[in-house]
Amino acid sequence: MLEQVDELLRTALSTLDKVTDLNELEDWRVRFVGRKSALTQILRSISSLPIDERRIVGARANQVKQTLEAKLAEKRMELEERLALTLQRSSIDITLPGKAVPLGRLHPTTRTLREICEIFVSMGFQVVEGPEVEWDYYNFEALNMPEEHPARDMFATLWVDFVNAEGRRPMLLRTHTSPVQIRVMEKSRPPIRIIAPGRVYRYEATDATHEWMFYQVEGLAVDKNITLSDLKGTLFEFVRRLFGEDRRCRFRCDYFPFVEPGVEMAIDCLICQGNGCRLCGNSGWIEILGAGMVHPEVLRRVNIDPEVYSGFAFGMGVERIPILRYGVDDIRLFYSNDLRFLEQF
Ligand code: DAH
Repeated sequence: MLEQVDELLRTALSTLDKVTDLNELEDWRVRFVGRKSALTQILRSISSLPIDERRIVGARANQVKQTLEAKLAEKRMELEERLALTLQRSSIDITLPGKAVPLGRLHPTTRTLREICEIFVSMGFQVVEGPEVEWDYYNFEALNMPEEHPARDMFATLWVDFVNAEGRRPMLLRTHTSPVQIRVMEKSRPPIRIIAPGRVYRYEATDATHEWMFYQVEGLAVDKNITLSDLKGTLFEFVRRLFGEDRRCRFRCDYFPFVEPGVEMAIDCLICQGNGCRLCGNSGWIEILGAGMVHPEVLRRVNIDPEVYSGFAFGMGVERIPILRYGVDDIRLFYSNDLRFLEQF
């Protein structure tokens, strides 16, 4: 019986060494000191032993039980401490500040485009779009610039080769939004009042004032009895809404093959109020768009009778507006995606 008790102690201690967590420890407790354990059985059967054996075995078994219980408590403490440490190490500090999610914002060009469109829409213009890859016909020919027309030199053009079974057809990246005028007049009859925002391309070395891609907004109104005063009234109202009530405007003759007469419109300088400064080259005026009365030849080409109908058209650069408003000194900043620039708007 004594040997059995010693053997039990050895087994229990060596098993305890291998216990690594609290679940295993509980199994160990049930197995070695639990109510159904061998040791408990022995303690229960002591009363049936002869009297002298009873004392020796009883004392030994009780001693072993105490040892095991002490070891159990020791091990439990050790495991609990280890667990607490692990939990502490892997815990999340909810008082730490979160990671900031940067808020996006609209590109200055987008904002300006929306502003321009809103003003014209409120005056009854419809917003339309045309393709950026365009036929020579729409970009030049239908706009009164046949092949070899010297005015084509105003537009440094990026050509795209187009060849199919029928041969070669000149294709390009549109150099202005004016071709949208032709596309609209081909498909609809007066009264027409549209604006056409979009990208245009020029074959140009870039510098602070030149980009090879930028945005324009085109405008077109065709109806009976449209006159130059309608053009002036509409654009003057536009400028006052965009740049402020007290803006002054100046119209001067200019040449564009698709209008007659053609004008260039300027506003008094935003910085010096017309007194002359660096921004306006000391003239007090800043040119902001080209416009004119739609050329009869252009109307005839899309089967609108110039004896019955007339129209005005205009075209403006979009980036020029934030450039003037915020004094941006390099147009290349708009599309070089430097957040330090873009985040200012
Ligand atoms: N398309 C011209 C350009 O890019 C601007 C322009 C001038 C448009 C006169 C017009 C216009 O509609 O009537 O330089």
